[in-house]
Amino acid sequence: MKHRTIKSNIFFTGVIDWDRKLFDELIPLPEGTSYNSYIVQGSEKTALIDTADPSKKKEFLKNISKIDTKIDYIISHHAEQDHSGLIPEVLNLYPDAKVISSTQCKEMLKELLLIDDSQFKAVEDGEAISLGDKNLKFIYTPWVHWPETMVTYLEEDKILFSCDFFGSHLATSDLFVTDEPLVYRAAKRYYAEIMMPFRPFIQKDIEKLQPLEIKLIAPSHGPIYENPDFIIEAYKDWISDETKNEVIVPYVSMHGSTKELADYLVDTLIDGGLTVKPFNLTTADIGDLALALVDASTVVIATPTVLTGPHPSAVYAAYLVNALRPKLKFASIIGSYGWGGRTVDLLKGFLTNLKAEIIEPVIVKGFPKEEDFKNIEKLAEEIVRKHKEQNLI
Ligand code: FEO
Repeated sequence: MKHRTIKSNIFFTGVIDWDRKLFDELIPLPEGTSYNSYIVQGSEKTALIDTADPSKKKEFLKNISKIDTKIDYIISHHAEQDHSGLIPEVLNLYPDAKVISSTQCKEMLKELLLIDDSQFKAVEDGEAISLGDKNLKFIYTPWVHWPETMVTYLEEDKILFSCDFFGSHLATSDLFVTDEPLVYRAAKRYYAEIMMPFRPFIQKDIEKLQPLEIKLIAPSHGPIYENPDFIIEAYKDWISDETKNEVIVPYVSMHGSTKELADYLVDTLIDGGLTVKPFNLTTADIGDLALALVDASTVVIATPTVLTGPHPSAVYAAYLVNALRPKLKFASIIGSYGWGGRTVDLLKGFLTNLKAEIIEPVIVKGFPKEEDFKNIEKLAEEIVRKHKEQNLI
């Protein structure tokens, strides 16, 4: 049977999930995804690196059966089930195999997958194992994107097996990156959705990998990087403290008043020389919203008042923005109301993780009038002024 070879005695045994549309019942996957797994065959021992999502058991077991070898080690970089979920199936086939993981990952795998303690060989940060003519070094990289995560460096071939780190949700038959702009966008979206909340940790993790000479990065989702600098430099940009001259306007409108305000703000900001990205919250892909948050300096949430508070779609957006902890420097709120409510206070209460300065909101009664449009102009001028102060324009 044919198998997919990366280099001599290093094989891809992952599964492409062309049809998956949602991850964590939350994140849209417009390009599908893959669960990458690898086999590294040394002169004495063989290691399987990660498994696949349990929904792909049949395909995964078929792929590992194509490699004519016994598995001695199962390396588990990360306890999340899209990579670890089939470890019990591999242990059924190879009961003497040892699961190699970080000490914290071991405890999580015991809880999540009910794997017996005796099946593990927990490794410390920097520890290595020999497969004979190939050596695998394990490097703890906490919080990409769970606390227990680690990566593996194959010293002889200079391959970094990075698990979720540097990954992309992208179903493709390409084993290696061929379309850099496509992969850039998918990897950035992936970073935004799950890595961005842990930006300070990722800064440290990237520094820790700096001394390694890396020829290939083999992640657990999406294609393999033959040009590691492409993705490492992209990550350095995303995790930097710098923001760009961009404003995001997530909005929802019931009868058109808030939409009128949002449209006027968007146009005025564009005239002021800013890049503006409006998101209609009734139809927006939240992955695109997350992606826009990687670089944005300012967010302005636009919402009507309903049931005395912000529209639930605006609450959802605010909660998400807050949870993703983007680098935003400024935030504001605009919207309309019919007879009263606590929209601004309630919405501000969902943004407590942000280090952003709140610019005076603009809330209007009913459909906006001349005075209200003037207040939107003032808000836009204030945002432009602040962007200029930050040397973004
Ligand atoms: Fe791809 Fe965090 O699992």
